[in-house]
Amino acid sequence: MTTGEKIAEKGAAAGKPLAEFQFPSPEVTKCPYPFYEALRSEAPVYKYPDRNDFLISRREDILFVLRQPDIFSNRTYLADEWAPGAERRAELELKPPGGVLETSFGLTSSDPPEHSVKRRALRSLINPRYIHSCEETLRRLANELIDGFQSRGSVELRGEFADPLAMLTICELAGFDPNDREIFLSWHRIGTGHGRRFLSAEQLAEQSKDQPEQQAYCERIIQDRLANPRDDFLTEVIQAQIERDGEINLPYLIGEIRLILTAGNETTSRLITNVMKLLIEHPDQLAKVVADRDLVPNAIDEALRYECPTQWTSRLVMQDTEIGGVAVPKGAFVLMLYGSANRDDTWTDPDKFDIERPSVRELNMAFGGGIHRCLGSPIALAEGRIALEVMLDRLKNPRFAPGHEEERENIDNFQKRVPKKLFIEFDTP
Ligand code: HEM
Repeated sequence: MTTGEKIAEKGAAAGKPLAEFQFPSPEVTKCPYPFYEALRSEAPVYKYPDRNDFLISRREDILFVLRQPDIFSNRTYLADEWAPGAERRAELELKPPGGVLETSFGLTSSDPPEHSVKRRALRSLINPRYIHSCEETLRRLANELIDGFQSRGSVELRGEFADPLAMLTICELAGFDPNDREIFLSWHRIGTGHGRRFLSAEQLAEQSKDQPEQQAYCERIIQDRLANPRDDFLTEVIQAQIERDGEINLPYLIGEIRLILTAGNETTSRLITNVMKLLIEHPDQLAKVVADRDLVPNAIDEALRYECPTQWTSRLVMQDTEIGGVAVPKGAFVLMLYGSANRDDTWTDPDKFDIERPSVRELNMAFGGGIHRCLGSPIALAEGRIALEVMLDRLKNPRFAPGHEEERENIDNFQKRVPKKLFIEFDTP
């Protein structure tokens, strides 16, 4: 790739030294790739000034972290200033008979051996045969959403297609009531705990404002399934927990149900929005996938690599250690920059969006790695593939609607990659 092409892809900050970047900052949120490149070339394990945080930007170092959950813990709340310390920490010391540390904290905030118990409890959601059996329904849902706007020849793709499709998919697979989708969509988009360390008190309050309503909603689901068991995933998870532990653990179940309701939603919506944006930005790649539908799965993988929907997650360091030769003390946080690993020198021409790139799925860090690797990746991949196939079938000659450049910029969140809005036009039949 020439310098000119690189600047076109990565913006004017391409090649800027690390010292000239601020993180977080609107510049990095808008386009993080020049910052990541500066990190990788100057300080791949970078101590964030005045904070006990380290940014890890190379794939190899991130895998080193992900493979050692005993040193790099997911119980990041242990060091959160806002967590009510004493009681929650005391809860961690509880060791019920059977030897498994049992807490009300959910899968994403657990370490082994507890983590494997909690992960097993959700596995039936991603049974390949089950996902396959839902594919025709997902295709129908995608087509119905497009029926709602196709005659207009234009759409705001994120709000009118990607968001509701992701929501309806999780309703279909897990057993949430699709009639409640307006409630789910009205909730403030939830930030993950990992990103909270960088939010102001105001932003935190804003992010958490719907939490009581969400918890009450999940509790209602649990009570309903207890009173009226059904042949669905939610009933199965609730009954399995009671059978396993001898009594209901309401805070845990509320947390896991809320996780399923939210984890796969926003992320997959971001993927669907990003892949269309990228294809419009790269007409040669769009032409290729229009001509050869067998490229659809690879286009999805490449979109995940190129614009990682979740740019990073974090771990709490449980003992003094070293990463890539840099000393990292106990109590520090490490931020694993998946969006950077997906553009490091593992890849040939990493800043090129190339839907024919080989081995993307195997090397991609978009779903994380190790024991916490995204549980829902088979759902996300199936949903992304179906969404793209239906969009290519029905939205002919897609292009950006004139204006709206500012809305195509990234949302105001440096952990998530997705345009604020994506207004597109297409030919009507
Ligand atoms: C494009 C879509 C998606 C992306 C980019 C994505 C990304 C990720 C990432 C990076 C992690 C690892 C977090 C960490 O290491 O700390 C993760 C974990 C997880 N994801 Fe996804 N995800 C997507 C879709 C889904 C879907 C559809 C579901 C299912 C409903 C889901 C459920 C989960 C769960 C339950 C975990 C926690 C796993 C654990 O802690 O063991 N995700 N996801």
